[in-house]
Amino acid sequence: MSYFQNKVAIITGSSRGIGLSIAKELVANGALVMLNGRDENRLHAAQNSLSDVADRVAAFAGDVAIEETANALIAACLERFGKIDFLINNVGVSSRGNIGALSPSVFRLLFESNVMGSVCPTIAALPSIRQTKGSILFISSLVAVHGLPGLAPYSASKMSLRGIVESLRIEEAKNHIHVGLIYVGMTEIVTDKEAIAADGSTTVLASRADKKVQSLQEVSKAVLKQLRKRTYRSVLTPLGKINAFLQALFPLLVEKIILKNLHKFDEGNK
Ligand SMILES: NC(=O)c1ccc[n+]([C@@H]2O[C@H](COP(=O)([O-])OP(=O)(O)OC[C@H]3O[C@@H](n4cnc5c(N)ncnc54)[C@H](OP(=O)(O)O)[C@@H]3O)[C@@H](O)[C@H]2O)c1
Repeated sequence: MSYFQNKVAIITGSSRGIGLSIAKELVANGALVMLNGRDENRLHAAQNSLSDVADRVAAFAGDVAIEETANALIAACLERFGKIDFLINNVGVSSRGNIGALSPSVFRLLFESNVMGSVCPTIAALPSIRQTKGSILFISSLVAVHGLPGLAPYSASKMSLRGIVESLRIEEAKNHIHVGLIYVGMTEIVTDKEAIAADGSTTVLASRADKKVQSLQEVSKAVLKQLRKRTYRSVLTPLGKINAFLQALFPLLVEKIILKNLHKFDEGNK
C-alpha cells in the first residue's frame, strides 16, 4: 500500500504551478487533498482538472497570509476530511530589482506572502498535525542558499523559512512531527506567472522555454520523496547541491562565482 493512501494533505497555493503538481502527485498516490489559492476561478479550474477523483479533492479559496483565512482553511479541511497528515507551505512569490531601486513595500509584500503565508497555516494546523504525527514541509528556493542580485526580498523571505523550520523542529521534537525544508531550483512556470517589480507593481515573468529547468513533475516527486522519508532538508538540481555545499564551507567563494557570472542574473529568473 502507498505511504500516502488515505492520508490528508493541505497544499497552500495549489491552483497552478508546483502546488497543483504536488496535489496531483499526492492524489495519484492515494492521498486526499485540499487545494488552495486566492483567485476562485483559477482554483475551480484546478479542482476541475482533478474531476476524475473529485471525491478525494476539496478546495478552499483565500489568502493564507491572513490569520483568519488560514484558520478557516484548516477548519474546512478538518470538516471535510477529519484530519491533517501533511501541510505543504507552498505559497510564495518572487521579486525583481536591485535593492537601491526597490520600493521598501516590495520587502513588505514578499515577507507578507512568503513568511506570513507559511506561518499562519503552520500555527493553525499544528494541533492537528501533532495528532497524526504528520509533516509540515516548507517550499524554499535556491535563492535562500546565498542572497542573489536582483532578488533580495525573495532571498531574504525564503531564508527566513530556515529559521522557522529550525525552531519548529526543536520545539516539536517531543511531539514526533516531521518538519522539512526543500530548496527548489529553477522550475518550469505557467505562462502568466507573476513577480513583484521594483515599484511594487505586478509583472509577468519571461518564458523559460529556452532555459534548462526542472519539470513540475520532477519537483513534486522530490516533495513526495521528502514526505515519505521524513527528511529534514533537500536541495534540488546538481547546481543547487554544489551551491549549498560550497556555501556551507566557502561562502566567499560562492560570492566570487556569482560576481563572475552577474550577466546570468540579469532577469533574476529564479
Ligand atoms: N517556479 C520556480 O522556478 C520556483 C523555484 C524555486 C522555488 N519556487 C517556490 O515554489 C512555490 C510555488 O511556485 P510556483 O512557480 O508554482 O508559483 P505560481 O505558479 O505563481 O503559483 C503560486 C500559487 O499560489 C497561489 N497563491 C499565491 N499567494 C497566495 C496566498 N497568499 N494565499 C493563497 N494562495 C496564494 C496562487 O494562486 P492565486 O494567485 O490565485 O492566489 C497559485 O496557485 C513558491 O513558494 C516559489 O517561491 C518556485
